[in-house]
Amino acid sequence: MKAAVVTEWGQTPRYTEFPEPQPGDGTVVATVEASALTNLTKALISGKHYASGELTLPAVAGVDGVARLEDGRRVYTGAVAPYGMMAERTLISTHAMLELPDGLDAVTAAAVPNPGMSAWAALQHAAAVAPGDHVLVLGATGVTGSLAVQLAKSVFGAGRVIVTGRDVARLRWLRTVGADEAMDLRDPEVHARIGALHAERPFDAVLDYLWGAPAASTLTALAAGHPAAHYHRTRFVQIGAMAGPAIELPAAILRGTGITMSGVGIGSVPPDVLARIRSEALPRLFDMVATGTIDLRTRTRPLAEVTDAWAAAEPSGTRVVLTP
Ligand SMILES: NC(=O)c1ccc[n+]([C@@H]2O[C@H](COP(=O)([O-])OP(=O)(O)OC[C@H]3O[C@@H](n4cnc5c(N)ncnc54)[C@H](OP(=O)(O)O)[C@@H]3O)[C@@H](O)[C@H]2O)c1
Repeated sequence: MKAAVVTEWGQTPRYTEFPEPQPGDGTVVATVEASALTNLTKALISGKHYASGELTLPAVAGVDGVARLEDGRRVYTGAVAPYGMMAERTLISTHAMLELPDGLDAVTAAAVPNPGMSAWAALQHAAAVAPGDHVLVLGATGVTGSLAVQLAKSVFGAGRVIVTGRDVARLRWLRTVGADEAMDLRDPEVHARIGALHAERPFDAVLDYLWGAPAASTLTALAAGHPAAHYHRTRFVQIGAMAGPAIELPAAILRGTGITMSGVGIGSVPPDVLARIRSEALPRLFDMVATGTIDLRTRTRPLAEVTDAWAAAEPSGTRVVLTP
């Protein structure tokens, strides 16, 4: 069968032959319909992701997606390694699939889970956003950040949502879907403004998709704007590292403020929380995207173009979904 095959860490997958999967104990072969090209998929194959060690090569790329079982049911699922979801067929565990409703197209169903469940876990579990909370989102212009912005008020009742990003058109659009203020990260005044907003009414939660310099400057600004005589807990949630894998964090920032830090990713969300998000939130997210209540832009490309799609720059906030 044809698949997006990886033979060396860091190599862009190639559309080529891979052995057909064979059913085993608790596993079945399914026909793939769609798989999203997420940052997680790319990072795992780079060999530098903290979960890359779970893979052995050669392997097929594609963390998750939509597949059709022999009996005709369509499911959202991951694959059993070395198989991945970027293939004509894959091997899936019968215990790890979610049946999809009729009428939900495969591309939407493949695109929603990674950013949707992550945004939900960040807002509900790690940041514990409650009605009236003030939320700051760093890197809100991306697929995942923009879902978090759209969910913050509509589902979790946030009182005020402030966002940062670089893509100006996308920042403007975010103002129409839940952001009260949208700031260009490249504006030299942006961190002074974050500090001033925090001094005026402290942020309750920060969702960070960037890390690197923007996160370091934001933490410094929050500390500078923190009302010294008044404790306020600000839950800083680390989710992505688009601007750099490491920061220097002065100890005084954590000792002198009410900032607490946690992450959302593989290993940082308790299994029972993840299971609940998968069974309860994911069907809601599918419905919200399918009905247009929230917006997730996709671009469908043939799996045969995987090598090109891997490296191509897409407009901010667009998720590429590959279909065999
Ligand atoms: N842990 C999890 O559960 C989880 C789940 C989903 C995503 N993530 C992570 O979250 C991050 C964003 O994911 P996504 O799906 O939203 O990706 P995306 O759609 O590709 O968005 C990337 C975002 O990062 C910004 N960006 C990229 N390079 C930057 C830089 N050098 N400096 C400042 N901003 C930069 C982009 O800003 P502009 O477009 O405005 O330029 C955009 O907001 C990734 O690191 C991803 O791995 C984590």
